Amino acid sequence: MTPSGGPIRILGIETSCDETAIGIVENGRTLLSNVVASSLSQHSPYGGVIPEIAARAHVETIWDVLTQSLEQAHLTPTEIDAVAVTQGPGLPGALVIGLAFAKGLALTLDRPLIPVDHLAAHLYAGHMTDPELEPPYVGLVVSGGHTLLCVAHADCRFEVLGETKDDAVGEAFDKVAKLLGLGYPGGPAIDRLSEQGQAVKNAFPRTQTKGTFDFSFSGLKTAVYQYVEKRTQDSGHKTQVSAPDSVDLQSPVSGLQSRVSGLGSQQIADIAATFQETAVDFLVMKTLRACQRTGITRVVVGGGVASNRRLRARFAEEAGTHKLRVVFPPPALCVDNGAMVAGIAFPLLQRGRVASLSVKSDPNLCLV
Ligand code: KG4
Ligand code: ZN
Repeated sequence: MTPSGGPIRILGIETSCDETAIGIVENGRTLLSNVVASSLSQHSPYGGVIPEIAARAHVETIWDVLTQSLEQAHLTPTEIDAVAVTQGPGLPGALVIGLAFAKGLALTLDRPLIPVDHLAAHLYAGHMTDPELEPPYVGLVVSGGHTLLCVAHADCRFEVLGETKDDAVGEAFDKVAKLLGLGYPGGPAIDRLSEQGQAVKNAFPRTQTKGTFDFSFSGLKTAVYQYVEKRTQDSGHKTQVSAPDSVDLQSPVSGLQSRVSGLGSQQIADIAATFQETAVDFLVMKTLRACQRTGITRVVVGGGVASNRRLRARFAEEAGTHKLRVVFPPPALCVDNGAMVAGIAFPLLQRGRVASLSVKSDPNLCLV
C-alpha cells in the first residue's frame, strides 16, 4: 500500500532480447496493461536474433511502448509508484537500453528503481495466473536462452537444481525448425506442424544426464540432423541439409524455403512431431523427478516454450496421475513481457530490494 493506503502500481520494463515490452501491474497481481512490440520480423530473414538490430529497435520503439502502456492502464506517469526493469540475463546491448530508460524514468518521477531477474519474472507469471499459488514450488524455465529446474522458496529465493549443459530448449526448437525449413521463430512453427505429424517412439536418442536435473538438447538436435540427412540420401536426392550450427546468421535465408530436399511434407511433419515429443518428454520426466525428490507437488512452467501445446498437454496428463498442481501462465505472460517484471517487483519492493541509479545490467544473471 502507498502511504495514503492506495494500491501500489509498478511499471515493468523488459528489453532482454527482441521484445520491447512495458506492463503495469497493481499489487503484484492485477494487470493494468501489457504492451509488447517485437522486432521479430526484422530478425526472421537471418533465422535468429541479431543483437544490434534488437538494440536499435528498443531505442526506436520504447517511448511509444511506454505511451501505449500508460494509455491502456488509463494512468498518468505520476500515478506510477515504482519502476522495475529486467537487469539480466539477456543480450548486453539490449539490456542497457531498458535499464537506462528505467533509470531516467525513476529519476524524473522520483520513484524507486527495482532491478529484476528475467528468469524469476517468467516464474512469477505463475502467481499472476494462480493467485492461490504459494512457494515452495518446482519451477521449470523454458525459453530461447535458458532451460532450468529450480525450487522457488518464499522470500523470492531460488535454489537451482539443474540446467541445460548446451542449447536451451527454445534454441533447439529454433534450430530444428531452421533445418526443416520452417522459418524463425521455430517453436510455434514446430508446435503447429507437429499436430499433422506422427511422433515415432525412440527415433532420436536423448543425451543421458542421468542422476542429475540437468538437460542437454544439442545431441537431440544433431540426431535430427543426421536422421534428415540419411532420409534425404535414402530418397535418392542429393543432400542439401545444413547442420543447424553451420547456418550463417548474418546471411539472410530466403523466406521459408526448405533446407531439405527429397522429403515430403508428411515426413517433415513426422520429424517435427518426433523431435517435439522427445524434447517435451525430457522436460516432463526431469520435472517429475524433481517433484519426487523434493516432495513438492506444485509446479510452475514459465518462458516462451511454456506456450507449447504438447508440453501443456503432457503436464496436464501427468498432473492427474501424480496429483500435482501445474501452473502454466497464459501465452501472453509466457513470451517476454513487461507485466511479469512489474509483477515480481511488488514482493521485491516489499522486501526493500530497490537499487541506486548506479546499478548495472548483468547479462549472466541467473536467479539470484
Ligand atoms: O521466453 P522467450 O520469449 O524469450 C527468451 O527469454 O528467450 O522464449 C522464446 C523462445 C523461442 O525459442 C521460441 O521458439 C520459443 O520460445 N517458443 C516456443 C513456442 N512459442 C515460443 N517453443 C515451442 N512451442 C511454442 N509454441
Ligand atoms: Zn524470456
